[in-house]
Amino acid sequence: MAFFVAMAGKGGTGKTTVAGLIIRSLLKKGKSPILAVDADANCNLNEVLGVKITETIGKIREELLQVPPGMTKDAYIGYRVQQALVESDGFDLIAMGRPEGPGCYCYANVLCKKYVDILANNYNYVIIDNEAGLEHMSRRTTHGADLMVIVTDASLRGVITAARIRDLCDELKLKINKIVVILNRVFGELTPDTRGEIEKTGLELACILPADDTIREFDERGIPTLQLPDDNKVVKIIDEFVDKYMVQK
Ligand SMILES: Nc1ncnc2c1ncn2[C@@H]1O[C@H](COP(=O)(O)OP(=O)(O)OP(=O)(O)O)[C@@H](O)[C@H]1O
Ligand SMILES: [Mg+2]
Repeated sequence: MAFFVAMAGKGGTGKTTVAGLIIRSLLKKGKSPILAVDADANCNLNEVLGVKITETIGKIREELLQVPPGMTKDAYIGYRVQQALVESDGFDLIAMGRPEGPGCYCYANVLCKKYVDILANNYNYVIIDNEAGLEHMSRRTTHGADLMVIVTDASLRGVITAARIRDLCDELKLKINKIVVILNRVFGELTPDTRGEIEKTGLELACILPADDTIREFDERGIPTLQLPDDNKVVKIIDEFVDKYMVQK
């Protein structure tokens, strides 16, 4: 069974960057094969990973509404999902694409989920990069995970939002084995206020990632995060995080 990791957090906190860094670390540690799932309608995990996507599950779902009678939808979607899978070195990527438009998608959704689940069986790790906010949880695209990583900045409001996401997971009774928080793009030391708030919420603080000029520069120049050097400070912290929470599972 694959180890499922779901990313969460409010907009622009660094979910996609951290997802890319986790995948980078797993690759270095020889933990392939890894499935990266871009569950953000505005796909961009592929840029962090340095690969191109041509098809999305959303597009296949649309096509399913028009499969001619007589042709089995089941066979069709199995074949199309395989086509949508982008294969790379040690990892594959699948993009979920846009949420459904008008029309009845229940059956198509069930089939898509079935085939993504079947696909996941082929991997050691599945890393799901979600879109910002809590929508994906209430719509239950995050059904369950071994580990949920909530990424936030070091602001009080950021920590409060992170705690709200954790609480919502509990309320929705999502099957998530462990929920941790990563503080990202942190300048200097944490303030006592932020530390106090984290303690108050009972969130498990997994690690603190500093604001990093190389990450910013790579992003500005369109260089995949996957290519960050081994001695980068943030890379090293994520390597330790992966050892602690994902490898010695
Ligand atoms: N530790 C860091 N140091 C410097 N820049 C960072 C760091 N982490 C992320 N960034 C930058 O912050 C921006 C937002 O990051 P990212 O796209 O990963 O966030 P996100 O949470 O996935 O956003 P969205 O909610 O839009 O999906 C990017 O330009 C990224 O390069
Ligand atoms: Mg993102």
